[in-house]
Amino acid sequence: MRVPIIAGNWKMNKTIPEAVTLVQELLTLVADVQSTEIVVCPPFTALYSVGQAIAGSRVALGAQNLFWEAKGAYTGEIAPGMLVDLGVRHVIIGHSERRAYQQETDADIAKKLEAAFKAGLSPILCVGEHLAEREAGRAEEVVKGQLEVDLELLATDQVQQLVIAYEPIWAIGTGRSAQPADAAAMAQVIRDVVGAKFGADTADCVRVQYGGSVNAANSGDFLTLEGIDGALVGGASLKAKDFAAIVKSASK
Ligand code: PGA
Repeated sequence: MRVPIIAGNWKMNKTIPEAVTLVQELLTLVADVQSTEIVVCPPFTALYSVGQAIAGSRVALGAQNLFWEAKGAYTGEIAPGMLVDLGVRHVIIGHSERRAYQQETDADIAKKLEAAFKAGLSPILCVGEHLAEREAGRAEEVVKGQLEVDLELLATDQVQQLVIAYEPIWAIGTGRSAQPADAAAMAQVIRDVVGAKFGADTADCVRVQYGGSVNAANSGDFLTLEGIDGALVGGASLKAKDFAAIVKSASK
């Protein structure tokens, strides 16, 4: 039985006071939600304050990135243990914006996933194709290729804990979400790749999210699909009411 997981990726938004206000509003709105895991991923600068605000609640803290080394001369980077120190439980790894703007490679992502698990964090791995790749009929091939490398350093028991977000790049922040049937088909592809590498039981455990222009109006179309176990939400997670409505639509 896979528990649905809804994660809000706040990206580079919200000052500390804004972040605390947002999460406090959210806490009230999701107070009666029982059956869905809820994660908020503020920017690094707001992690501590948001962590304080959600202490003792069902909302868990997530980060948007980490570095794979435990410590040392890596100016500007954040180690997995530093996130644990802040009460962070989840971490987004390999988001397409980091792949695009920070030139993050699948080999980097594999090291980040390994380091996250080693520190006891629960990663959310993002995969997804560009529009040109989908239009050329190469979406599956691209996602499979990403997964081949991304999962390379992980053990079976780690992959069983993994959340994989299928985020077609052309759907992120554009207001143009994928067709639910295409998202479900890709979720199956992801599960098949995991099954081929780590066995059917692991494929059964791994949770697959859809991400890309998920909002309060369309979330139910994705979250009621067999094989889609949650959503990774960007823009709509910055509004407490919208994010709460998405969380509630996951309680199938
Ligand atoms: P979006 O972003 O919901 O604003 O499209 C999703 C994401 O980048 O995770």
